[in-house]
Amino acid sequence: MNQVNISDLGNYAGEEVTVRGWVYKTRSIGKIWFVILRDGTGLVQCVVVKEKTDDETFNLEPILTQESSVIITGSVREEARSVGGFELGVNSIQIIQVSEEYPISPKEHGTDFLMNHRHLWIRSKLQHAILRVRHQVIKASRDFFDQNGFVLVDSPIFTANAAEGTTSLFEVEYFDRSAYLTQSGQLYQEAGAMAFGKVYCFGPVFRAEKSKTRRHLTEFWMIEPEIAFCDLEQDMDWAEKYVSYIVQWCLEHCKTDLETLDRDMSILEKVVTPFPRITYDDAVEILKKNGVDFEYGGDFGGTDETVISEQFDRPVMIHRWPAEIKPFYMKRDAENDKLAMGVDMLAPEGYGEIVGGGQREDDHDSLIKRIKEHDLPMEPFQWYLDLRKYGSVPHAGFGLGIERTVAWITGIRHIRETIPFPRTLTRLEP
Ligand code: 4AD
Ligand code: MG
Repeated sequence: MNQVNISDLGNYAGEEVTVRGWVYKTRSIGKIWFVILRDGTGLVQCVVVKEKTDDETFNLEPILTQESSVIITGSVREEARSVGGFELGVNSIQIIQVSEEYPISPKEHGTDFLMNHRHLWIRSKLQHAILRVRHQVIKASRDFFDQNGFVLVDSPIFTANAAEGTTSLFEVEYFDRSAYLTQSGQLYQEAGAMAFGKVYCFGPVFRAEKSKTRRHLTEFWMIEPEIAFCDLEQDMDWAEKYVSYIVQWCLEHCKTDLETLDRDMSILEKVVTPFPRITYDDAVEILKKNGVDFEYGGDFGGTDETVISEQFDRPVMIHRWPAEIKPFYMKRDAENDKLAMGVDMLAPEGYGEIVGGGQREDDHDSLIKRIKEHDLPMEPFQWYLDLRKYGSVPHAGFGLGIERTVAWITGIRHIRETIPFPRTLTRLEP
């Protein structure tokens, strides 16, 4: 007997197969009843007919509560009206466990309730679709960098370095000293780039974000490429090539899930290179023209980003930022020392910044000066300064936040639904 996934049933028309999964719902019309079964790969309607099975099987209908786990054997037949285009004529049902009353029902639940039941909520159709897209975004990311000659160099999670400022550090006990949970793998990727040329890392990063917004998590996943002999322009070339690759991959491989999520795919189809590139000054002009009260020199807030991104039909890259609001490691513009050679990419439709990166300071003495200016302790950066002593070269890279990218691609407003178990200011369970 073939034991198959529901998503593969189409290959077994006319054959007898076994499927294993969970009861989505049952419905009876007297001498026939139906069970919709879910196995993680899809849904299938299984039809139980009185004359075609034994009494024991036929009488199971009232017992099979939602989410009960079962193994069903039956014959596959084409049925255009059924989910997935095929259904199963049931021969036998083996119950593994009868589920207790399931807390999540089709009726509306509040977000807090659903988040408290996140361990169960991920079985639901929409959440399931979002997490499948997440999986494909990650796969496409790895494929992209692997295919382009990047070497995966994992950055550590425990670190002594504050890469992205000291205000959002999580400090943890580390034997007889303290350590931080990493905010970004970048500094280690810079070491990797000097060893391998082109490298990337992919892992969780941590920020003690005290702001409760729909774009911030305290634990999120970032993919961070770093390239030796690369300037800001070339860094932007990589960023746009990569982001368009992910989007086009998802359009090709996540069509059903994006349909489930009701995503307007025609908007995503426009995400092809080249992406517009504007300076910070240009962006400030856009805000002014649109009547936004913005003080030059500051960082853009969520609504500012929305106003800017609404001018374009694809992601926009903003480069050359006031150095004061950017981290210590950014190279200054040779033409204007007040500007940092950083770049942020804003997603369309108001999804905000999905990529942050830029060209790094490669001069030893300038870097020492910046570390001091930022009031950072010198000792933990000795190894990083070494990189500027032994064959320093121009180099650049960026980090893309997986959750914000998935939120944008799936069209989900809040990023807490784009990660299996979100961590926020107020949430550590489940
Ligand atoms: O702009 P950020 O802070 O850049 C860096 O960390 C660089 N060191 C990366 C690099 O150059 N290698 O963060 C990069 C991206 C943001 O654009 C955003 O997508 C995401 O990480 N991000 C967050 N996502 C969810 N929750 C948060 N609190 C985030 N903070 C940043
Ligand atoms: Mg940023």
